[in-house]
Amino acid sequence: MKPHQNQSTAAQRPRRLRTTAALREAVAETRVHASDLMQPHFVLDADSGLEAIPSMPGIERMGRSELLRRIEADLQLGIRSIMLFGLPGAARKDPEGSASQAADGCVPTAVRAIKAAFGDDLVLATDVCLCAYTDHGHCGVLHEGHILNEPSLGLLAETALAHAEAGADLVAPSDMMDGRVAAIRGRLDQAGHDRVGVLSYAVKYASAYYGPFRDAADSAPAAGDRKTYQMDPRNRREALREAALDEAEGADMLMVKPALAYLDVIAQVRAASSLPLAAYNVSGEYSQVKAAAQLGWLDEGAVVSENLHAMKRAGADLLITYHGREALEQRWLNR
Ligand code: PBG
Ligand code: ZN
Repeated sequence: MKPHQNQSTAAQRPRRLRTTAALREAVAETRVHASDLMQPHFVLDADSGLEAIPSMPGIERMGRSELLRRIEADLQLGIRSIMLFGLPGAARKDPEGSASQAADGCVPTAVRAIKAAFGDDLVLATDVCLCAYTDHGHCGVLHEGHILNEPSLGLLAETALAHAEAGADLVAPSDMMDGRVAAIRGRLDQAGHDRVGVLSYAVKYASAYYGPFRDAADSAPAAGDRKTYQMDPRNRREALREAALDEAEGADMLMVKPALAYLDVIAQVRAASSLPLAAYNVSGEYSQVKAAAQLGWLDEGAVVSENLHAMKRAGADLLITYHGREALEQRWLNR
């Protein structure tokens, strides 16, 4: 008997379902849709402008007109959710990050323009934090070397209110001060914005993967680090504590950030909460794929598809990713 005619010794043959592409497609357990993707954008305090970000190839800082055109093109691809980050410019930074609360600041101004152009076709989330607006680059009020919790809450709540007044659908606090979700929820409700949701960066680690973002947003701390407010990467139980607190404070959606080095955390938060869960595929995770692809060391499309499916498989509903537009343009998710 020839070897290939041997009788099967295994009745269970997982390989049968991998025989053809059509069969693999039919039994795939996880799919990433365009509607799962949220594209982050960096908006300048200017009517127009386009600035490359060297450590994030393919991502640019945009003035309002370029941003509107980009959003329109992305909508054609099927991207219906965006996250906005404001770039106030060095001249508007001060110790308390007061430009973050201004009604005519870069984020509220962009939000009004985007909502006027696209209305409810788009889910518009705004990052709420102080670090791009403070001259010291920390996410809260800095006093004698300490980041003060309580004094930061009022500033964050006023920032969220300015975004809500401009028309944001979701405000997304990323500062990691304790009690900020309750403070923001209370301030929004008091001002009659009870329909604006809170997408909480509930589980945010003190990660070196934020490096390229800090180049992009000019938001690196001038001194020290963020380890007294962001989470220690060695901790997982603490993630459940943070998630439970934010849910109790009124968060509408939770987020785990970064994503790829924290898939276990995504899976565990998914199991512990019934709220929608976002995973933030952060700048460093993006840039390392881009760099390896530029060197010819990785197949970019295949890696991006694998990474995005991994986040979804771990339990994330919404994928916040800089790869979004290219993944759809190049049809990377369908291969
Ligand atoms: C601001 C903020 C950061 C990111 C999102 N919001 C940077 C930080 O905490 O230093 C990181 C996003 C990314 O790396 O893509 N608090
Ligand atoms: Zn911050």
